[in-house]
Amino acid sequence: MRTIKDLQEMHSYSMKMKRRGKSIGLVPTMGYLHEGHLSLVEAARKKADLVVVSIFVNPAQFGPGEDFSRYPRDLKRDRKLLNNFEVDVLFLPDAPKMFSGEHQSYVEVEGLSQKMCGRSRPTHFRGVTTVVAKLLNLVSPDYAFFGEKDFQQLLIIKKMVKELNFPVEIIALPTVREFDGLALSSRNQYLNPKQRKAAAVLYQALCLAKKEIENGERNPHKIIAQMRSLLSAAPGVRLDYLVLADPETLIELKKIKRKVLVALAADVGPARLIDNLLVEAK
Ligand code: PAJ
Repeated sequence: MRTIKDLQEMHSYSMKMKRRGKSIGLVPTMGYLHEGHLSLVEAARKKADLVVVSIFVNPAQFGPGEDFSRYPRDLKRDRKLLNNFEVDVLFLPDAPKMFSGEHQSYVEVEGLSQKMCGRSRPTHFRGVTTVVAKLLNLVSPDYAFFGEKDFQQLLIIKKMVKELNFPVEIIALPTVREFDGLALSSRNQYLNPKQRKAAAVLYQALCLAKKEIENGERNPHKIIAQMRSLLSAAPGVRLDYLVLADPETLIELKKIKRKVLVALAADVGPARLIDNLLVEAK
């Protein structure tokens, strides 16, 4: 596994490999890797000739007072995990070169970025789309891999790629979960054992919605009320949002349709956790 930090070197490497007819798969991450990230690496390995994994804790997607400075970082551990896969390049973009003090250029997907997580994190998705656009330009991958765990992020990136004509195929992978359903996240690290136990309620609430929809309930308000009551009984869980929305527009549903995105965000102790389930009403 070759490590590249220099932005120009990354670009030259990709251009050279493309001239040789190699396809490239990119897995963008912020590190502190877990099985969720590794499922993306595995998919990239199967699909592309060369796999590039980027690790960059992107300052542009954290708001003031958020966890940028304490976000978990452990490059030694990440390298070890990646060594079990045949990763060709570990791309560690040089932070001051990615966003210099004078940075003024941003990419924004306007409507979708204001919904759900965008309500409490108004500049978050602008930071995500800007860094992903930069990574796509630097690596020029044929395929880029993202997790459904961050459903809104995935949707926004797909829209950006389509509308700005990035020549890349976005490939989505399902959420990897713990034994009790908690979605793997680098932020689970922040939880103490009591909070970790309580956090399982997020997935339980999503499963409750799935069961209700599959049993024929068509009134979103009734489902939301049941989910809220389950969530409020869990110690230390403070709900940020809970929506039953159209999975393409993220507009909240007045009546359940065929496909429903059930999505939520909550603070569990010091960790802001998100999760979602895509449910088909039969
Ligand atoms: P990060 O949170 O490190 O996640 C990197 C990728 O792993 C994202 O595509 C995310 O959806 C996926 N992922 C995280 N947890 C997962 C899980 N439990 N199952 C499956 N996939 C999972 O998302 C980001 O970083 C950043 O916003 C980034 C896209 C790298 C831009 O900075």
